[in-house]
Amino acid sequence: MNTSSPIGVFDSGLGGISVLHTLVQTMPQENYIFFGDSKHNPYGTKTKEEITKRCIEICDHFIQQDVKAIVIACNTATSACVNLLRKRYSIPIIGMEPALKVACEIGDHQKILVWATDFTLREKKFADLMKQFEANHEIVKVACPKLVRLVEENQLNDVEYVQDVLSSYLPHQNFDSLVLGCTHFVFYKSILEKMVPSILIIDGNTGTVNHLKDILTQNHLLNTGKGSIVFQNSLETKISLSKELFEYLK
Ligand code: DGL
Repeated sequence: MNTSSPIGVFDSGLGGISVLHTLVQTMPQENYIFFGDSKHNPYGTKTKEEITKRCIEICDHFIQQDVKAIVIACNTATSACVNLLRKRYSIPIIGMEPALKVACEIGDHQKILVWATDFTLREKKFADLMKQFEANHEIVKVACPKLVRLVEENQLNDVEYVQDVLSSYLPHQNFDSLVLGCTHFVFYKSILEKMVPSILIIDGNTGTVNHLKDILTQNHLLNTGKGSIVFQNSLETKISLSKELFEYLK
């Protein structure tokens, strides 16, 4: 392994491409392998054991490709097994969690809506995060499984339908911010900013990417070359959609 070794980035499917996009914007000189597990999507309705088994298989696959770090571009997979993966592999493993802290630090008594998968919202990791903030803020959690499916099934361009689905997950009360606690949901950020301009839309992608950059810097692992992206998927038919989704964010 050396500075030009790739960074492995994975998700339960194609949502993590939004994280890959931020990674490439911030560190274009790096070589990336993005692995989408679309064959086993969604993770949000699976058990911890099922998700962990898939994550170990994906990380073993990355290790065979000599990656220098792994980004779990999936809040659900992070809640299920980030600690176990960190024990199992000696390279840096970067996880993700809903950016609730960012929303709460905006001010006192914030009204915050958190969208994530059912799994993320019922896991201990999120319950512990809520405990830190719920005394001072009003936090409402909503699981949004359809928003994962729309990305996997390439329906983002059906804007009217997308807006209907997004509206169905917006409660009637007012909120200061909406935390996108699933990487699939970041694809809706620009539509949401137009639909609900008074609500601040927050995602965890930049925080995650900056964290990786710090770790690579500390370990003298930053690359200086040209940079590249390889898309892999457990469903070969999703490779062209992966590239389209990456372009969609440009
Ligand atoms: N993209 C994933 C996340 O960030 C979850 C989608 C799924 O249910 O598989 O949580």
